[in-house]
Amino acid sequence: MPGTAEYQLKDGRAVVLRTAGPDDVPAIAALFTELSPESVRSRFNGACAPALLARLARIEPAETVSIVAAPAGDPGQLAAEARFVPAGAGVAELALAVLDGYQGTGLGHLLLGELAGRAGEAGFTRLQAIVSLANGPMLHLLEPYGWVLAAPTDLSVASLEISAAGGRPAWPADTPGQRVLVEQRSWFDGDRVAALRSAGNVVRVCLGPHGSTGRGCPLVSSGSCRLAEEADVIVPLLPGEDADCAAVLDAHQQLWPHRLAT
Ligand SMILES: CC(C)(COP(=O)(O)OP(=O)(O)OC[C@H]1O[C@@H](n2cnc3c(N)ncnc32)[C@H](O)[C@@H]1OP(=O)(O)O)[C@@H](O)C(=O)NCCC(=O)NCCS
Repeated sequence: MPGTAEYQLKDGRAVVLRTAGPDDVPAIAALFTELSPESVRSRFNGACAPALLARLARIEPAETVSIVAAPAGDPGQLAAEARFVPAGAGVAELALAVLDGYQGTGLGHLLLGELAGRAGEAGFTRLQAIVSLANGPMLHLLEPYGWVLAAPTDLSVASLEISAAGGRPAWPADTPGQRVLVEQRSWFDGDRVAALRSAGNVVRVCLGPHGSTGRGCPLVSSGSCRLAEEADVIVPLLPGEDADCAAVLDAHQQLWPHRLAT
């Protein structure tokens, strides 16, 4: 990329990545139809009939950036598609679909990296993804991009936001209320967080460092976290008995004690 580029996957197969356009919509629709029912549910957050999948494959040339992966030597078949569409000022929504037979080969990592690069070039600073909490591979893929929760988690589906440029994502520009960073282990809003949202604040939730997933805290590891630096208020609800979380609280107390909510 840009144009086309060939990559070798973990299992030895080669794929060619290229930008897709409206002519590719039938092949993208065929790809969506070939996904297993579970993958369709993960990609579209529910079951979809073939006619709906064909509609969802459409590309609005002025808006959609779509990247497809085809097996090398077989450009007519697609192994995967990734896209983003604008979702507001400076933010786009991304989604990926890798054919079941290609999952686990590194294609998702590859496509997400390409998408983030393209989004940055197009002037988007933040990317959102709607992800099921049961979608381990997608959550894992987003982990190095330092995702935060951008909206309340609805039943079992989370709205994650990453930075197109690396590090924790910036705050939306021109936010109407205060920027409130909540640090908590839970995916779900408690009463306090719900009240903060109802009061008109812009809330971002960071689940904090987590040894088991390899998720770190940039403030602790590198002394810098855009999300914390630019927050008006930080609500620390991480478990203090966890050493990694205690280090986050210590860093906040040293840098911005006046911003910490009690
Ligand atoms: C999610 C999806 C895009 C990932 O693509 P992929 O090609 O399988 O991803 P990769 O092979 O690049 O990476 C998968 C990673 O998840 C890890 N993984 C696999 N199962 C996992 C699980 N249950 N929990 C956590 N991580 C898991 C793998 O080890 C791998 O990580 P590693 O390379 O660091 O070892 C693909 O599985 C897919 O299309 N799923 C169906 C549609 C979907 O969920 N789309 C996302 C909606 S936004």
